[in-house]
Amino acid sequence: MEKKIEVKNLVLIYGKDIPAARKMLDDGCTQEEILRETKAVAAVRNISFDVREHELMVIMGLSGSGKSSLLKCLNCLNTPTSGEIFVNKENILTYHKKQLRAYRQRITSMVFQEFGLLPRRTVLENIEFGLEICKAARNDRLQKALEMVKLVGLEGWENRKPRELSGGMQQRVGLARALANDPEILLMDEPFSALDPLTRKQMQRELLRLQEVLKKTIIFITHDIEEAFMLGDRIAFMKEGEFQQTGTPREIIENPATQYIADFTRDINRGRIYKAGDIAKPAADRRDFASAVTFETTVEDVMSVLSEYPCAGVTGQNGELVGYIDRESAMKVFSR
Ligand SMILES: Nc1ncnc2c1ncn2[C@@H]1O[C@H](COP(=O)(O)OP(=O)(O)OP(=O)(O)O)[C@@H](O)[C@H]1O
Ligand SMILES: [Mg+2]
Repeated sequence: MEKKIEVKNLVLIYGKDIPAARKMLDDGCTQEEILRETKAVAAVRNISFDVREHELMVIMGLSGSGKSSLLKCLNCLNTPTSGEIFVNKENILTYHKKQLRAYRQRITSMVFQEFGLLPRRTVLENIEFGLEICKAARNDRLQKALEMVKLVGLEGWENRKPRELSGGMQQRVGLARALANDPEILLMDEPFSALDPLTRKQMQRELLRLQEVLKKTIIFITHDIEEAFMLGDRIAFMKEGEFQQTGTPREIIENPATQYIADFTRDINRGRIYKAGDIAKPAADRRDFASAVTFETTVEDVMSVLSEYPCAGVTGQNGELVGYIDRESAMKVFSR
């Protein structure tokens, strides 16, 4: 898949004495040393990464690790101290005012932790907001907003005010508003962190469902490891302004780059990360299966099938038999 976003050697330092902080950073000083010496915060320390088209990339890190600072560079709310950001092969840091406006209105959309809805406006009017800024015609705006209401499952709530909605529903409005402009890139800064655990799970599933249909390029920030592994095609682990590791959930589980990441990922439910296709045994020696699962079924879900049947066939993209899975092979996943 084509590279949608390319970030190269990005540095962002907050503070006055940037040259001194920069020198210390280049000398390998820690954030704490730089702060003590220069009062500047090296929030993003030489980060490089790509995001491919249609990819959902999670940036995972604890509070203060620099996630929001990095994300704000991507929609030009922060001006990096140095480095390059290419989106669709264009360096957005060289954009003039007009190009920048077009980039913010048409290419990217942001979803925030605190929803950021306008309290006096109705659900529908909130969703229309971005389209108004783009100066879309009134009728088109309405049509699009109604379409979005349907997409995020808020029919019947169009004329309510945000305060009448639960947190989960408010964030559906936030998501609908972000999607209304049909952006290529969705930037989501801890969008579900203010929700209760159940609603949060529901919204995670909802996002995956939407992504299946919409196929956006998404950067999703979280400090929740379960959420990161549930959503990310790839996950970047950020610590003290640096990416310690970037990889697929499986790559990270199987080869954590640091002790920090190993500690973090120890309790992750591997049954949700491995799929039947990952662990299927060749089917040649066993032909008849009373039950079957697709190669994309999570091992966790396979387990419930295996509680009734000793083994299950695994089918491929076109329903053909590609292998089989039994209790022994499924259990191995959990003991890795
Ligand atoms: N505008 C600013 N001016 C100065 N320092 C800032 C500014 N914004 C953030 N910082 C500092 O930069 C560092 C990274 O902050 P940032 O908000 O990017 O972290 P985060 O990973 O998003 O944290 P959280 O999970 O709490 O949102 C912190 O030390 C923070 O205090
Ligand atoms: Mg933040």
